[in-house]
Amino acid sequence: MEYQAKELFAKHEVPVLPGSVVETAEDARAVAAEIGGQVVVKAQVKTGGRGKAGGVKLAETPDEATEKAGAILGMDIKGHTVHRVLVTQASDIDQEYYVSFLLDRANRTYLAMASVEGGMEIEQLAVERPDALARIPVDAIAGVDAAKAAEIADAAGFTGDVRDQVIVVLQKLWRVFTSEDATLVEVNPLVKTPDGKVVALDGKVSLDENAAFRHPEHAEFEDKAAADPLEARAKEKDLNYVKLSGEVGIIGNGAGLVMSTLDVVAYAGEEFGGVKPANFLDIGGGASAEVMANGLEIILSDDEVKAVFVNVFGGITACDAVANGIVHAFGLLEGRGDQVTKPLVVRLDGNNAVEGRRILSEFAATAPAGLIEQVDTMDGAARRAAELAAAK
Ligand SMILES: Nc1ncnc2c1ncn2[C@@H]1O[C@H](COP(=O)(O)OP(=O)(O)O)[C@@H](O)[C@H]1O
Ligand SMILES: [Mg+2]
Repeated sequence: MEYQAKELFAKHEVPVLPGSVVETAEDARAVAAEIGGQVVVKAQVKTGGRGKAGGVKLAETPDEATEKAGAILGMDIKGHTVHRVLVTQASDIDQEYYVSFLLDRANRTYLAMASVEGGMEIEQLAVERPDALARIPVDAIAGVDAAKAAEIADAAGFTGDVRDQVIVVLQKLWRVFTSEDATLVEVNPLVKTPDGKVVALDGKVSLDENAAFRHPEHAEFEDKAAADPLEARAKEKDLNYVKLSGEVGIIGNGAGLVMSTLDVVAYAGEEFGGVKPANFLDIGGGASAEVMANGLEIILSDDEVKAVFVNVFGGITACDAVANGIVHAFGLLEGRGDQVTKPLVVRLDGNNAVEGRRILSEFAATAPAGLIEQVDTMDGAARRAAELAAAK
């Protein structure tokens, strides 16, 4: 969100205006009074185009800031509900510019983009007059020093005193990009004020999740309110889980296998009134009984789930180990007070499949009738799981 991006900007001395984020209209009044003079009330949602959607409003007085905050809080902007607004100093604007650094996947490099025609229509500018948006590749090792920043500024057409300031700002933004492990740092608009100062009025930063372990301080940026509660619990248990909207819970080992499991379940489900997979869950190659139990626990607590399909291809972890894992997982769940009541369809294939199936059959015979079924083929198991889910 903008206010978080600006915290990172401030940390690396990119010029921003004073402001605070609030969750109520009353708190907006206090911030406006403290800043004094004109303020801007800005919706904090993870989407652009807030200005056009009416989520950025000028306020002359603290009373007006309260009123504007009240109007913006609760607004829906492109499917994002506004829970927070940034109340920040208003700036007079002489010029609006655009600058960004991003990961250019297609060209396997980093890319700087800059334009002296920034503001709200940058996407349109990129399409209609691509020449007005400079694109300069940035070498990951060489980075952005003063000379590189000058090359970017000149390509975009910055001149005079603004050019010098933009060169400094670009180097600081590059520092944000690298030291925070970002995949995008974008400022739109970067503005020139009437007294000739260059300031970032908006900011957008995407952080690289793969580098999260290096940045415990980034955890606070996560929008817990927007996260799915099941996904949040799965994340706490280090599970690779994505909630979908459907009735067949899915557990598999290996992302590719789970992806194709989703496909075959969706396909089989068409025959049963459009039953769909309820989630993606990859428990990985060497999944232990505990991981299996954690996965089952998350899936079984999904109210939408009517049946579960466990699709495992035994590789390094052989099917007998997986079967023992499932048996053990039932024990663990029972111990936690989570009795398994939704039917499970298990398909075991691959390394030691025969022994795995034997172990599971033996266990199934001791479980309530119909609770655990085995089907030897992936398509057959998908069809059975869909059928069971539709019957519930
Ligand atoms: N602090 C501010 N002072 C004056 N104008 C602002 C301020 N913040 C934003 N604006 C104006 O509102 C426009 C939209 O705001 P911005 O933060 O860029 O949101 P978005 O990109 O989501 O539309 C900006 O292009 C700028 O003209
Ligand atoms: Mg903007």
